[in-house]
Amino acid sequence: MSASSIDQAIEHHINGRLDQALGLYVQALQEDPQTPGAADLISAILRTYLELALALMKTGRNSDAIRSFQRVLAIQPDEPVAHAYLSRLFISDNDLPQATRYLRHYLRLVPEDHIGARLLLAYTGAEAVPERPAPAYITRLYDNYAASYDQKLVNSLRYQCPQLIRAALERHCQDKVAILDLGCGTGLCGQAVSPMATRLDGVDLSPQMLAKARQRAIYNELTVGDLYPFLEKKAGWYDVLVAAGVFEHIGDPRHVFRAAFGALRDSGLFIFTAEDNPTQELSVNSSGYYMHGRAYLAGRATQCGFAVSSLESVTLRLDNGRPVRGLCVVLRKTP
Ligand SMILES: C[S@@+](CC[C@H](N)C(=O)[O-])C[C@H]1O[C@@H](n2cnc3c(N)ncnc32)[C@H](O)[C@@H]1O
Repeated sequence: MSASSIDQAIEHHINGRLDQALGLYVQALQEDPQTPGAADLISAILRTYLELALALMKTGRNSDAIRSFQRVLAIQPDEPVAHAYLSRLFISDNDLPQATRYLRHYLRLVPEDHIGARLLLAYTGAEAVPERPAPAYITRLYDNYAASYDQKLVNSLRYQCPQLIRAALERHCQDKVAILDLGCGTGLCGQAVSPMATRLDGVDLSPQMLAKARQRAIYNELTVGDLYPFLEKKAGWYDVLVAAGVFEHIGDPRHVFRAAFGALRDSGLFIFTAEDNPTQELSVNSSGYYMHGRAYLAGRATQCGFAVSSLESVTLRLDNGRPVRGLCVVLRKTP
């Protein structure tokens, strides 16, 4: 391509005729891969398409957003961000085969899975329900969420889990006790139960969420990390374990029940909320959150040595203005 042709491409670009500019840049690179500036200018156009797609998605214009992401892939077939968002858009359109295609392509590009693609493949029915999410995905999800979490959960979603756990604790416990807050996040549940604690510790995978919890100055000890190995190191330490809004990230609960059993003193309590699945034992919803059946949870808990003290149907929060059905469970460690 002659210098005047690249000038022509730039002229289209400056005047907002992105498709024409893109075509000429691509042609220039095919003819001479060293064409100065062409690769950077293509990237600039792809960023514009990505930003446009994201803005369209935010305003609910899903089919326009899909077209814009697909334009990106026509030029750069291995752009993971486009695959990730396209899978979400097709899930919300209930086109599960298309969503599966984009999720599989995403996982080939990012095997460490930053978006919970394996969970979403379970939702689309393409793969079995995974035992647990990748810890790196949880850390990333909540690190990004930390700044807006309290405002969103309390004001927009009317999040009830901390109050439900506090009420269950009051019903089952007369004295003050040593409490561990599993998946403590920014400390919303810790705040609710702290008046009943002789000692309050917290553990969470997200450093950003934990930094917010630290600002509350209600915890004796806060640890960044995975709750399973943490529990295994604390044999017989706690009277009560609480987990508000955490079972959404816990698949088969046997592992957490066994570890919790070990960390509790005799007659200790494990109080948690879970999203209810009225028809199946265990599944993943369209957001990539686990849902548990009540009989399944109770069965797994008793297999691990717990007695089920109570298992109530509750509303956990709102989702698009609709109540999310859940369970508030109290297990007691039977000596
Ligand atoms: C919905 S938030 C709930 C936070 C807090 N409990 C509350 O009620 O606001 C879920 C939290 O669980 C944490 N989490 C999920 N899986 C975890 C794991 N395996 N180990 C430690 N933390 C985990 C996440 O990082 C996140 O902060």
